[in-house]
Amino acid sequence: MTSDVVAGETPASAASDRVLIFDTTLRDGEQAPGFSMSRAQKLRMAAALADLGVDILEAGFPHASPDDFASVHGIAKSVRGTRICGLARCQFGDIESVARAIEPAEKGRIHTFLATSPLHREFKLQMSRQQVIDTAIAGVRRARELCDDVEFSAEDAIRTEPEFLAEVFSAVIEAGARTVNVPDTVGYTTPPEIAERFAWLRANVRGAEGVVFSSHCHDDLGMAVANSLAAISAGARQVECTINGIGERAGNAALEEIVMALRVRGERFGGATTGIRTQRLHAVARLLAQTTGQPIPRNKAIVGENAFAHESGIHQHGMLKHRGTYEIMRAEDVGVAKSQLVLGKHSGRHALRERLSSLGHVLDDAALDDVFTRFKLLADKKREVFDADLEALALGHDPEAAGPWRLTSLHATSHVGASASASVRLAHDDGREVSEAAIGDGPVDAVLRAVSRAVGHEFSVAEFQIRALSEGGDAQGQAAISVNHGGRELRGQAVSTDIVEAAALAVLEIANRVERITPALPTVSTANAR
Ligand code: KIV
Ligand code: ZN
Repeated sequence: MTSDVVAGETPASAASDRVLIFDTTLRDGEQAPGFSMSRAQKLRMAAALADLGVDILEAGFPHASPDDFASVHGIAKSVRGTRICGLARCQFGDIESVARAIEPAEKGRIHTFLATSPLHREFKLQMSRQQVIDTAIAGVRRARELCDDVEFSAEDAIRTEPEFLAEVFSAVIEAGARTVNVPDTVGYTTPPEIAERFAWLRANVRGAEGVVFSSHCHDDLGMAVANSLAAISAGARQVECTINGIGERAGNAALEEIVMALRVRGERFGGATTGIRTQRLHAVARLLAQTTGQPIPRNKAIVGENAFAHESGIHQHGMLKHRGTYEIMRAEDVGVAKSQLVLGKHSGRHALRERLSSLGHVLDDAALDDVFTRFKLLADKKREVFDADLEALALGHDPEAAGPWRLTSLHATSHVGASASASVRLAHDDGREVSEAAIGDGPVDAVLRAVSRAVGHEFSVAEFQIRALSEGGDAQGQAAISVNHGGRELRGQAVSTDIVEAAALAVLEIANRVERITPALPTVSTANAR
């Protein structure tokens, strides 16, 4: 790994207009309940984020578990063109894990954090002010021995006494930190307050002129994006954010909203700009939604389905006369596809590759062959293949999500006024074949029971959703299921033209994940890393 700060990538001075986008979708976002991703899914998201142009990609918390370590390491090994970062508590073991995990990266960063607020010092850390300073210095020094690019975060910075925060930042800058991050860990601040805090810190921290000040806002009061923009106005030159604003509790600041606010209203934020390829925003947002099975709300700014829809007659009339009457940015600028209807059974491999690539799925030849075969099968069943169908096919190409269990046959019936019944036959990679039957409140319920009986895992269903991916009676159905198993929430999803089969495959995905990752589940509490 080389970790030199790349020219143009790190404009340390607030006088520069360029704001670094630090994406934490795969760390702060992924740790939120309902948003967990497999290793292959994180790798695919990381490739899409690099393609989007994020400057720093926080890939995970390597010391949290062997699986987290492997994800960060895998991303560092294969994702190019962006700086790969890993999170560490201010403890040598954590810091050394990050250094090992990001070792193969083209450019790497160690991000270490320690809480500084009185509440955290007294009740969580039981540390005096001096102990906090000493621990922060020791952590940053160790990190600098292992990597040139070190970021220090003062957890709960907003509720920290400003003078003490300035003391901590001055100390870590002297110890070698290049970025100092001011997290609003509990989403408590307001735009005027955060702007005032950044201006004050920049004037009172020793060595401020040589480092990047960063904001990290949570959305508990719905102000994460406004607060991040206010921080930029007051000199922050890095913002930490996530796609679709995912993150624990109410989430983190939404990347796409910050980026487009700067693009559309840059003059209100000192002319600040980013290096994001905004035309990729829509594809990446959809990729995340499909991957996690958490749909984007229709009215979500920038990437929601309604964001560029003008239903009302008055609006349409105005738009026809002049787009500017009701439109402040163009759909094309954020990559909203012009046409939804794409391919049919006569379409070729080349057209498929082109369309997938415009949707943000860049596949190698082997993956494309696999998707093309499944596309032809689907096109035989369905007359028209829509973008959402193609996305589902591309996302279905997940070698890690395949097996060990496979569904080889499924039969379900429902009867008015009586229980439904289902029988399934499953094959395991180790050669076992199991058949099971069950009755339930409906065919989907019966099939879920039959599958869990066959795989031998007790799942209690917390949430179950079926939605049509596109239009028409032959639309594919996407089943998303969330179950509680062994005290954890696990999600699975699958797509089929038959919704009962989609439900069976979704629960099978969960069963397979349980078999594959159970030994590698988190061993270290990450509760203080939000
Ligand atoms: O919200 C927070 O304080 C964090 C830090 C670990 C940066 O996520
Ligand atoms: Zn956070």
